[in-house]
Formats: sequence, structure tokens, C-alpha cells
Amino acid sequence: MSIATDIATPAVASKFDVARIRKDFPILHTKVHGKPLVYLDNAATSQKPQSVIDALARYYKEQNSNVHRGVHFLSGFATEAYEETRKKITRYINAASEREVIFVRGTTEGVNLVAQSFGKKFIGKGDEAVISALEHHSNIVPWQMVCDERGATLRVAPINDDGEIIVEEYAKLLNAKTKIVAFAHVSNALGTVNPVKEMIALAHDHGIPVLIDGAQALPHMRVDMQDLDCDFYTFSSHKMFGPTGVGVLYGKEKLLNAMPPYQGGGDMIRSVTFEKTTYNDLPYKFEAGTPNIADVVGFGAAIDYLNNLDFPAIESYEHDLLAYATEVLTSNKRVRIIGTSKHKAGVISFVVDGVHAHDVGTIVDSEGIAVRTGHHCAMPVMERFKVAATARASFAFYNTKEEVDALARGINKVIEVFG
Ligand code: ALA
Repeated sequence: MSIATDIATPAVASKFDVARIRKDFPILHTKVHGKPLVYLDNAATSQKPQSVIDALARYYKEQNSNVHRGVHFLSGFATEAYEETRKKITRYINAASEREVIFVRGTTEGVNLVAQSFGKKFIGKGDEAVISALEHHSNIVPWQMVCDERGATLRVAPINDDGEIIVEEYAKLLNAKTKIVAFAHVSNALGTVNPVKEMIALAHDHGIPVLIDGAQALPHMRVDMQDLDCDFYTFSSHKMFGPTGVGVLYGKEKLLNAMPPYQGGGDMIRSVTFEKTTYNDLPYKFEAGTPNIADVVGFGAAIDYLNNLDFPAIESYEHDLLAYATEVLTSNKRVRIIGTSKHKAGVISFVVDGVHAHDVGTIVDSEGIAVRTGHHCAMPVMERFKVAATARASFAFYNTKEEVDALARGINKVIEVFG
């Protein structure tokens, strides 16, 4: 069994005060079924700090108006708040310019935008798109749809028994017919951290653009777009301690400029007549209609919150927590972990022998412990490991070893009940 590497040295971990951090998240102090909440479903969505909750309330109490549309005071105020978040995100991910940061509903919409828009322009009959066997449905289905529409073929890079992409097999799939490559930075179902830089460079050797699904990476690590050199990267606010309903598609300006709009409507145009419409500049060309202004503002507050954290200390703390959880869970002979890569972030998927994952979820829930059960929107991953479903404990920086112990006791209760 391999566990997470880079375990925290005490000196680094001690800089991270989890008890203080937990105070920022009101929901962590609530009870479920009369028991203290143990929230281990962070890969589905993270909890929100008070500062994000306050920013949302303040927006509706004091700032609410539409953006880019009015000369009146409140419209200017809302526009400034909305655009301020774009600036914060540009800096946070080190994009080259604000024109490369497009607000979308979330990661799923980010992938669909690229599949549809890039696909329309650059994918044709006989072409190929490459993904991996580790993907979430949202990074499979949009590519299947565009390949069906364009007469192209979807190729899938296989994974090994540890749940890692087999990079040599991936490299063999890249050729002159490949028009795009898309894969996750971190697997939502198994927690595998993919060697994204290496995989991007391999695609670029053939001149192929790369989209990265970063939904499960950004809650755990800082990512630098210019250093990574990917062509597209998409992520969701709600997994990064911000509100639901908003995310970002990062794209290199040159590519975004070459792509047609995704949706038509207000804000994405420069001029409209019945004969001809000309489109707005980036990023607005891809932001048709009134955007999710309040949640963008809330996302800005989440970025402020993250900017105040010591990320190297967080990464060490989370690696330590994951290693501890892996050790504790595998000491139970009835538990089998699915996904044993050396490089993992935030996720332990497991099965309890002889018990259906939904029963595991129900019994631990009665102890106040939230885990996700099912196929995790990654049915091909379940198929690869020949399991119908797993239980998945997914961690954030506010989780603790005591919560891992609570999960271990919950699993013991599952075994007592189901024998
Ligand atoms: N994609 C989210 C998850 O993995 C919803 O749970």
C-alpha cells in the first residue's frame, strides 16, 4: 500500500492551526442526528467561511445591481465588485491577463464551453480527442458529444491498478489527428494527482492544446497557469470554499480569440443588426447574459480567504491527514482502499467487504459523519476496479485526525450491524 508522500515535518505542520481555522466555518460546529458534524464530503462541495457568507449577504443588502449595463451608482458598484474578483483570480492563478479568465457556472460548463466552441472550429471528421480513464463524467460526455457531432473519435488513456494514468500509453495516443487532450489534475473518485506538467509537455510536442479539469486540485494546492503552460484550465468556486453556481474557465488568449462564442445574448456582443452581429472582446465574448454576480463576489471573498492561508503548510497538513487516514482505514482488514497512487490529494475511496457502499454511508451518517457513496460521477473508474460503488471520504484543510478516528469508529459500527 502506498500512501501520500511529502508527509509534513512537525515544523511546517505546527504553523497550521486547524482549531483556529475551524472557527471560521460556522457549519462545522453544528450537529447532525444529535452528533457533532464530521464533514468528509469536501470533494462534492466544501463548506464556506463566515467571510464568504457575509460577502454574499452584504452584496444583496448593499450592492445588488446588474453589471456592465447602467450608468447609475449601484450598477457601477456591482460591476466593480464583479470585475475585482476577476482581477483577484487572475493573480491567484497567475493568468497572463484578465481576458483569459472567463466566468462560467462551474467546471462542467467550462469543459462544455471548450468542447463546443473549440470543437466547432478545430475538430473535424476523422480527428481524435484524447481523455483518460480517470475522468469525471463532465470530462467524458462533452467530448463524446462533440466527437459524435463532428465525426471524430474519442481515445482513452488507460490507468493502472493504483489508479494512475499510464503515461507511456497516453503518449502513444498522441498523433497528427489528435486535436485536443483533456484530463483531470486530481481525480475526484480516487484522489490521484496526475503528472500534469509532463502530460501537457507531451501533448505540446505534437502541437496539441490541453484542457485540465482542475476542480479537485485547487482546493488543495496553488496552481500557476503560466508555469503549467496548459491551454485551458477550469475549476469551481464551491469546491474552493466559495459559493455554488460559479466557476472559471482559464484559456490562453490566442486560442480564446480564435474560438467562436459559446452562447449568444447580451454582453457578448459589440453590435447587433438583423443582418450581422459582431462580438465583444475577451472575456465578455464568452459571458452571454446576466452573470451570477453575487456568487462571483462571494468567490472573491473566498479567494481573499485562501490568500490569507499558508498554502505550503496546508499542503503538508493535508498530506499528513491523508497518510493518517490511509493508515487507520487499512488497519481494518475489512476495508479496501481503491486508488493507491503515491501522489494523492484529499480523497480516500474505499469499500467495506461484504457491505454495500450505500449501507456504509447510511450507518456512518447516523454517527454524524458525511461521506459520499456511489459511483462519484465516474462510472468508468468503478468499472475499471470492478466495484459498483465506493464510499469516499474527502478532506479539506479544516478536517482533523479526530474526525478520521470518528470515521474509523463509524466503519466498525457498519461491520457490527452488517456482520
Ligand atoms: N464532482 C463532485 C464529486 O466528486 C460532485 O462529488
